[in-house]
Amino acid sequence: MKVRAPPVRGAGEELLAMARQHILVTGGAGFIGSHLVERLLAEGHRVVVIDDLSTGRLSNLKAVTRHPELRIRIERVSDCRDLPRLARQAHCIYHLAAAVGVQLVARFPIRTIHTNLRETEALLAAASRGQTPVLLASTSEVYGKSGKPLFSETDDLLIGPPNFGRWSYACSKLMDEFLAMAYAQERGLPVVVARLFNTVGPRQTGRFGMVLPRLVAAARAGKPLEVYGSGRQTRSFCWVGDTVEALVRLQNLPAARGLVVNIGGTEEISILDLARRVRQACGSRSIIKRIPYRRVFPGDFEDLQHRCPDLRRLRRLTGFRPRTPLAEIIRRLVVET
Ligand SMILES: NC(=O)c1ccc[n+]([C@@H]2O[C@H](COP(=O)([O-])OP(=O)(O)OC[C@H]3O[C@@H](n4cnc5c(N)ncnc54)[C@H](O)[C@@H]3O)[C@@H](O)[C@H]2O)c1
Repeated sequence: MKVRAPPVRGAGEELLAMARQHILVTGGAGFIGSHLVERLLAEGHRVVVIDDLSTGRLSNLKAVTRHPELRIRIERVSDCRDLPRLARQAHCIYHLAAAVGVQLVARFPIRTIHTNLRETEALLAAASRGQTPVLLASTSEVYGKSGKPLFSETDDLLIGPPNFGRWSYACSKLMDEFLAMAYAQERGLPVVVARLFNTVGPRQTGRFGMVLPRLVAAARAGKPLEVYGSGRQTRSFCWVGDTVEALVRLQNLPAARGLVVNIGGTEEISILDLARRVRQACGSRSIIKRIPYRRVFPGDFEDLQHRCPDLRRLRRLTGFRPRTPLAEIIRRLVVET
């Protein structure tokens, strides 16, 4: 039988004792996953990563590849024959594996839907056998075309029609959320859903449409900074270290189980202004070029005009909110990546 660390009280929160744990991380060779794995190993935990390297890279884990407490399994979550055993042995699971990136999602909607549904189903089924706590990484995309200034976890969701490929990501991640809640309700699975807004930092690749790494790479290379659409759409950005901090706090907080919780930055900026600031920070003379969506995304495409999280729930539960200002985020991206 699995022995779980007893709950303790600290700073008004119910936190699990930070005893050494066995932790399973799906998507652990990805951008956010690799930062999470480093953090968990640094805390003294034993970590098993399952990653098929579809968008992740082993080099993301190069700082810890030889760590004696790290095991890496290169395979799909749903193909992993040891999944039931690994899930049973784990004290908790972070489920980050997913088809990610606006360009990849718009181009391969079948792969997106299959990956996000099948892998999550396999993971939740395995976790529920041993009642292993799961943190499921979801996305702010599920808020769809909401016009609200701040997106809150209890909002109704307004997703676009199925002939627009991008909504396959939102819909499949939303089904993951429903599935997680269904496992919580019917099988008593301890699960928390983290709705991540744009997260940025080292190792994020611009290959699949992530805006900040793409702009930084273009500015450095003296190439045009391509802004899709009018550039007036706004976004907010969260430093990956802040995201990881929030994920770890939520996972270790029994009071968060059964809840959806936003994680993100709150400083909004238009993509056009973002391009200007990146150009300035890089000392680049690149031009900024607006590109119509139809030239970048196949088929019909809709973009979101703005996207900013309401973080009151995160703060109430964990006492934490992301704290890295946008200026510092841009500076670090330019200097450290
Ligand atoms: N980065 C962001 O801004 C952001 C925003 C919202 C939500 N998220 C969510 O956070 C999670 C991590 O995203 P990321 O930005 O680190 O992306 P990422 O692409 O770097 O990480 C995803 C990882 O999952 C792996 N993977 C994909 N399918 C798999 C499968 N079937 N089996 C095993 N591994 C598989 C990939 O190889 C990759 O390493 C995802 O669930 C994503 O939906 C990220």
